[in-house]
Order: sequence, then C-alpha cells, then structure tokens
Amino acid sequence: MMNFNEHENEEERVLGRLRQPGDNEEKALRPVTFEEYSGQTKVKTNLKIFIDAARKRGEALDHVLLYGPPGLGKTTLAGIIASEMGVAMHITTGPSIEKAGDLAALLTNLNENEVLFIDEIHRLNKNVEEVLYPAMEDYCLDLMIGKGPAARSVRLDLPRFTLVGATTRAGMLSAPLRDRFGMIHRLELYETEDLMEILKRDADLLGIAINDEGLRNIASRSRGTPRIAIRLLKRMRDFASYLEKDTIDKEVSDYGLKALDIDELGLDAVDRRLLTSIADIFKGGPVGLETLAACTGEDPITIEDVYEPFLLQNGFLHKTPRGRMLTLRAFEHLGLTPPPSFITGMKNAETVPPRYENISIEDWQNSERNGDNN
Ligand SMILES: Nc1ncnc2c1ncn2[C@@H]1O[C@H](COP(=O)(O)OP(=O)(O)OP(=O)(O)O)[C@@H](O)[C@H]1O
Ligand SMILES: [Mg+2]
Repeated sequence: MMNFNEHENEEERVLGRLRQPGDNEEKALRPVTFEEYSGQTKVKTNLKIFIDAARKRGEALDHVLLYGPPGLGKTTLAGIIASEMGVAMHITTGPSIEKAGDLAALLTNLNENEVLFIDEIHRLNKNVEEVLYPAMEDYCLDLMIGKGPAARSVRLDLPRFTLVGATTRAGMLSAPLRDRFGMIHRLELYETEDLMEILKRDADLLGIAINDEGLRNIASRSRGTPRIAIRLLKRMRDFASYLEKDTIDKEVSDYGLKALDIDELGLDAVDRRLLTSIADIFKGGPVGLETLAACTGEDPITIEDVYEPFLLQNGFLHKTPRGRMLTLRAFEHLGLTPPPSFITGMKNAETVPPRYENISIEDWQNSERNGDNN
C-alpha cells in the first residue's frame, strides 16, 4: 500500500487540529446560525438566552471569551453570535494589533452593538491591553494628546460594543483581562453523534455521497474535532474515487483510514509514538512535559494543546502531580504489558483518569499551575 501519511509534523498531519492549506473550503462550510451549529449544547443554550435578552433590551451583548483546542468552532461561534445579534462583526487577531493606536482605530470604527472579534487574544501586548480595559468596562478611550508639559488626556466615548475573544490558551490571559469578560465559555471535544451531524451537513454541501457507516467511521476517528472530521471527509472522497466507488461506505472509509495510519480508536502514528515512548522509556511514567517533548522531538506546546486533550479525554493518559502517566487502557491498546513497577505505582496513586470537564477558568489554571511542568 502507498504511504499516504508521510508527513509527520503537525503542520501536515491529517489528524492535526491546526488549520492547514487544504482546509480552505472551511469558509463555505461555516455555519451561520445556531441551528446549523451542532453540539456544544451547554454553550449554545446559554448564549441563546443572553442574546435574546440583549436583543429585547436593544443593548449590546456582554463580552464573551471562547476558549478551547483548535478547530472546535470558536471563530465559527463568534460569527454566529454576531449574526444572531443581527450586527456586523469586525475581525482581528491579538498579534496583529501592534500599537495602542491600532486598537483605538478599530474601536472608534465600531457602530452601536457591533461585535469586535479578537482571535488569539492571549497574544495582545501589554500596552494594547491597557487600552482595552476602559473600553470594555466603560466604553471609553483615554487618549494622550501632545507631548511633554503640554500633554493632556482626553476621554473619548465609544459605542456600546461586544468583544468576542478567542484563545486556545486561556491560562495565558492576564487576570484583569479575563475578569472583564461577562461570559467565559469553554468549548468541548464533540461526541461522535454531533460530528456525524456536522459531516452529513458538509457532505451535502460539498456534494459528497456517504452512508451512515461511513459517517460513523470518520466521526469516531476525528478526535472530537470538526476541522479534522471535515478534512478526513475530503480525503475519503479521494479514496472513494481511487477505489472507483461513488459512495463513502464502510469499505472505503476502512481502507482510507488504514492507509492514513489511523487506528480504530482514532490514534495516528504520532499519538502511538508518544504513548509508546512513555511506555518504553519511562515505564509508563510519570514523566514531565519537557522531558517527554525532548525524548519524542515534539514541541511541548504542541503536545499540550494538540495531542494531549484527546489522549486525556479518552483515558490513554492521565496527569498526576509528578507528570504524565499512561493508563492501563493505553498499555492494552498498544499491545504492551505494563511493567510490575507501574502496577505498584498505580496502586499508590489516584487511578481515575481526570476527564475534561466544563471547569471554571480558575480551576483550570490552578490545575495547570500545580501540574507537572517540570
Ligand atoms: N459546531 C459546529 N457545527 C458545524 N460545523 C462546525 C462546528 N464547529 C466547527 N465547525 C466547522 O469546523 C471548522 C473549523 O472551526 P473554526 O475555524 O471555527 O475553529 P476554531 O476553534 O476557530 O479554530 P482555531 O483555534 O484554529 O482558530 C469550521 O469551518 C466549521 O466548518
Ligand atoms: Mg479560529
């Protein structure tokens, strides 16, 4: 069989969560209403209530912070918020706002109730952030005019607006900025059923024929991430044509997923290498993030943001105060026998793998801080 998966780096990995050049159809597939946006029920229910209330009062929606791993639909949700509010959305990113003046220009350009979306908001620089505080809180800008002894500060009123911030790393947001958001929503990995619904809709939009088994097969191996599911769908379309079939069914998807080296639980070669290293080199752990990164040649941030959420949620890995540890499930899945030292260690340690839950930002940060970053 041909090797369809020779790119091992995150940039080009089929199961990579980050945007890739081939994802350019995303825009066309992006839902614009809550109805089209599957899953994330909790976040959606809350947002709908607040949007309804704000609309009834004719006011701007409170500022919203969306956080969670890449590809779960933060940008999409920001767009939906604006369209459900019936207002325009202005889009920018944290690193592209270099000076306080850049932000002032953006803010003074807004109309009443409009949405300003700042992606990667954890990458705003300090000076810019300070301009944002009064803007978010009191809808005003404090500008310095002139220099030296003649300098004076003027206060400029801004229209009421909604700031929607998105970040993959809520832990890197400064506390004063975080506190100024009225709503903080963590997006969760999607259930297979939700991903099937998303895939069905997208297959229809792209004119791809796929049956239920094909949908389930792809959805269950997309690490709970719509972006990955959509990417796999497009790859499976290619495998269907390679196999000269007009529908993506079980046979096509089995063949395609195998060719891409994605196993029945949705792990690819990189995941397995990560788990195997912990098993072989560290006897199942615990191992610190930096050490693990050094031994596997991966970037620690990528391990933390991209690989780990899925491995944690699916109980292959768990975090202890002393580092990452494999679970028995991981040993089983890799077909390896856990060393005796590991079994003894497990008896002494807490054995329930922590799951990703809708925890508060403070808890999450605390868990990261007290975690195992050494
Ligand atoms: N709930 C959903 N329902 C339907 N499609 C979705 C949903 N969430 C995401 N998608 C699809 O997945 C694609 C990726 O989502 P999006 O770009 O919003 O992710 P993101 O969280 O902003 O990622 P990043 O952190 O990389 O910016 C979208 O183009 C959209 O088609
Ligand atoms: Mg985005």
